Amino acid sequence: MIVSHMILKNWRNFQAVDVTLQERVFLVGPNASGKSNLLDAFRFLRDIAKDGGGLQKAVADRGRLPKIRCLSARRSSNVEIEIQLAESSLEPTKWKYAIGITQEKGGKRRPILVYEKVWTGDKLILERPDEQDNHDTQRLTQTHLEQINSNMPFREIAVFLTSIQYMHLVPQLLRYPDSFPGQEIPGDPFGKRFLENLAKTSDKTRSSRLNKIESALHDVVPQLKELSFIKDETGAPHLEAVYEHWRPKAGKQREDQFSDGTLRLIALLWSLQEGKSLLLLEEPELSLNAGIVSKLAPVISRLQRQTKRQVMLSTHSPDLLSDKGIGGEEVLILKPGAEGTEIKVASSMHEIKDLLEGGLSIADAVLPITNPQKALSSWGI
Ligand SMILES: Nc1ncnc2c1ncn2[C@@H]1O[C@H](COP(=O)(O)OP(=O)(O)O)[C@@H](O)[C@H]1O
Ligand SMILES: [Mg+2]
Repeated sequence: MIVSHMILKNWRNFQAVDVTLQERVFLVGPNASGKSNLLDAFRFLRDIAKDGGGLQKAVADRGRLPKIRCLSARRSSNVEIEIQLAESSLEPTKWKYAIGITQEKGGKRRPILVYEKVWTGDKLILERPDEQDNHDTQRLTQTHLEQINSNMPFREIAVFLTSIQYMHLVPQLLRYPDSFPGQEIPGDPFGKRFLENLAKTSDKTRSSRLNKIESALHDVVPQLKELSFIKDETGAPHLEAVYEHWRPKAGKQREDQFSDGTLRLIALLWSLQEGKSLLLLEEPELSLNAGIVSKLAPVISRLQRQTKRQVMLSTHSPDLLSDKGIGGEEVLILKPGAEGTEIKVASSMHEIKDLLEGGLSIADAVLPITNPQKALSSWGI
């Protein structure tokens, strides 16, 4: 399943967003335009839905509701999120989930629901506040999404949201997890437990995934061969590969010797095969050379074809966006302005559509308008 449509109102630096989403989504915009904030809207829904999560915790983990609510919103306006889910971008909407949130006027100033609604197709199957909510307003501090007793008619939405994964791999954490003690972050977004996670995967699945990674890497890091999983004499898990170089005898290397870029790439390609729900990636181009980055988009597509996993990524990279296979409908342009950031699908902008039809890549057609210098002058600054 994919998130095929999203509407946001007063979410962080967005006053109003209404966009259709494809299987791959590229978020493009200047620094601080809200790319991470947009990804955070999906993580917020995941944090509500997941075990041990819930609305109160999802908000508290982000401070308080006024931190989430758009600073340029009118004083009393609600934070609202609506998503549509479909089997693919070509299928009709299967589910729609919408919530509006405000803060209690007095007392503990907890976040409370203004509404929570669920549709299957066009049919409204949950509409809160309902009679019970009106009897006991405490109930509005919790969504039905987070309660297994209440979400049974739309459990598929909860399962999908719970499995949303956010990845921003930090190579040093993966290599030396024990050198970074401290609280574990749920979902392991920075890859600290990546090797343990490999160890927990069944032998068959693990080697099938590693084989696919090796063949995907073949084009981009041709020196790396025989990628495999091993345990050392202490039982600790490792990745190992033969790294061919100019010396006649190629040596084996472990993950502590892989380059940062190779590790990020391996983790990314693993994640693409690991789940079926939305995968959120922050700047996957980091630490990779231009040649590799320019092949990321097609490599993602190839693995996606098997798992059908939707991928949404933020990027600043002209190399990544130079791939001519990226369509204008896959690119969201974030344009900051006085009333918050606006989001447009690249193909909906005539000037860009014309350039793309003329044969330019996204990098050539879109990046010039998100370039801060040019953007600042076009906003009269
Ligand atoms: N509630 C809010 N209202 C308005 N702006 C916000 C809010 N929360 C965060 N921001 C702003 O959003 C910007 C950061 O956006 P971010 O998603 O990190 O950008 P990017 O990932 O594109 O660099 C910052 O300038 C921050 O001040
Ligand atoms: Mg960011």
